Amino acid sequence: MTIKRGKKLDFTIADVVDVYSGPVGILWEMLMGEQIHVGGEKETDALAKKAHLEKNSTVLDVCSALGGPARYLVRRYGCTITGLDATQKMIDEAMKRTEQQELSHLITYKLGNALDMPFKSETFDVVLGQDAWCYVTNKNRLLQEAKRVLKPRGIIAFTDWLQIGTMIESEWIDLNSFMVFPYMETLDGYVNELKGLDFKILEAEDVSVDFTAHCHIYQDMLRKTLKDSIIAQYGKELFEAADSGLAKWVQAADESKVGRGRIIAQKQ
Ligand SMILES: C[S@@+](CC[C@H](N)C(=O)[O-])C[C@H]1O[C@@H](n2cnc3c(N)ncnc32)[C@H](O)[C@@H]1O
Repeated sequence: MTIKRGKKLDFTIADVVDVYSGPVGILWEMLMGEQIHVGGEKETDALAKKAHLEKNSTVLDVCSALGGPARYLVRRYGCTITGLDATQKMIDEAMKRTEQQELSHLITYKLGNALDMPFKSETFDVVLGQDAWCYVTNKNRLLQEAKRVLKPRGIIAFTDWLQIGTMIESEWIDLNSFMVFPYMETLDGYVNELKGLDFKILEAEDVSVDFTAHCHIYQDMLRKTLKDSIIAQYGKELFEAADSGLAKWVQAADESKVGRGRIIAQKQ
């Protein structure tokens, strides 16, 4: 059965902020590192290269979380970055780490919603996003905002968790609910939304094989390396919820129902 396009779970930005104000952000950092996305530094670098990041680039990282990618990119490329995130706890932690590493002159963090970006039009050369837009309740509106804040010929470069196969409704609900995703886009869905906004698609790649491999790595880490410390810090209930939710994701990834995509496009 195909889930009808446009179907959404009733999560709001407040639900996501609640989640990232609690232990979940810390759990993801334990699994993925301070760059909270699949593939860490290597993936950030791949995206940066495809976006032709250079010293003079002004970059917006939409859903910047702990600022791990921003700090990596300014060190590697010397560019200037603004991180936008809706969760105050994430912004505070990102600022603290950025100050400690003496990078505050190159990185600014701003609290705000990706659906109503608190920036003037035509401000940035590059808009980046990594594995976070799945939380956003209206992907088309997010892309419209990205287009607005990009300079002419600016580049949008992002990865996201995607629905790549068909599934029954209860499975769709379970997978999205566990993650607090209102819905996941498909690769074609993103491409069509971008084309509809007159972006030129430079690349749209399905990187789901790598996603599945990482899902297994995260499951192993959770069960073998992190189990005891998670139970000690947050209790058995949280560990069991994380373990059963992740197991459903691992199975769905194995069955090619969920995956990940990387998209690069240019504002015309
Ligand atoms: C998986 S983390 C992002 C990881 C980050 N991109 C990285 O690579 O390190 C998800 C983040 O998205 C933020 N977020 C979710 N929805 C948002 C929205 N509508 N506007 C701004 N931030 C949002 C959350 O607050 C959270 O910090």
